[in-house]
Amino acid sequence: MRIAIFGTGGMAAALGSRWTRHDLTVSGRDRGRTAKLAAELGAEVKSWADAAREADAVLLAVPSSALDELLPSLNLSGTVLLDCTNTPGDAEPPGTPVATRIAGHVPGASVVKAFNLAHVDVWRMAPPTFEGRPLGVPLCGDPAAVEVAAELVRDVGATPLPAGGLDRAPLLEATAAFAIGLWKRGADARTMLMS
Ligand SMILES: NC(=O)c1ccc[n+]([C@@H]2O[C@H](COP(=O)([O-])OP(=O)(O)OC[C@H]3O[C@@H](n4cnc5c(N)ncnc54)[C@H](OP(=O)(O)O)[C@@H]3O)[C@@H](O)[C@H]2O)c1
Repeated sequence: MRIAIFGTGGMAAALGSRWTRHDLTVSGRDRGRTAKLAAELGAEVKSWADAAREADAVLLAVPSSALDELLPSLNLSGTVLLDCTNTPGDAEPPGTPVATRIAGHVPGASVVKAFNLAHVDVWRMAPPTFEGRPLGVPLCGDPAAVEVAAELVRDVGATPLPAGGLDRAPLLEATAAFAIGLWKRGADARTMLMS
């Protein structure tokens, strides 16, 4: 699969490092950091536009606020967009869901909400298992795009959890905001989902 990684920070590096069997490109706004991550991943450096045009899937590992400016100018027709973003803030309910905004910017692309519920340190685990059980990764999007995302979840060593269409992505964004809010107040948010 041709995967374009947008961003050069923690999420880009952690997830990209699990996908090196694929054909990877890295795009970022800082030339040095982009070249460094690309070298680490054995990836090619590409402009946002070239990477978008050629990719089967794009990981959007930049702040959600950057996407409004970045996405509208790109040719992403037929591309799967992996939206791992969370809105900054804590327990406040997010405003317009990011996944909805993205889908509006690039109507020809297929947005999948994915990878937003776990901290970057979890994505650095190889594989991410807890008490002997693999991490479950909920995916919201159309079924064909979710199947693409599911392959990449399996590459991470986690279990894909198809969780409905993109209309359910706001639930994932709200869940993250709620958990991050608890965590920032010192609570062990992970314990609330243990079974
Ligand atoms: N960290 C987590 O635990 C975690 C977990 C789940 C989801 N997420 C989400 O994943 C996304 C990336 O998070 P991260 O932790 O990887 O952040 P990060 O380490 O701070 O990296 C952010 C990346 O986005 C780039 N960027 C920032 N503003 C930009 C702009 N206006 N235009 C283009 N690129 C821009 C940064 O470039 P520069 O280096 O030039 O600043 C950097 O490459 C965020 O949406 C976040 O909400 C994070």
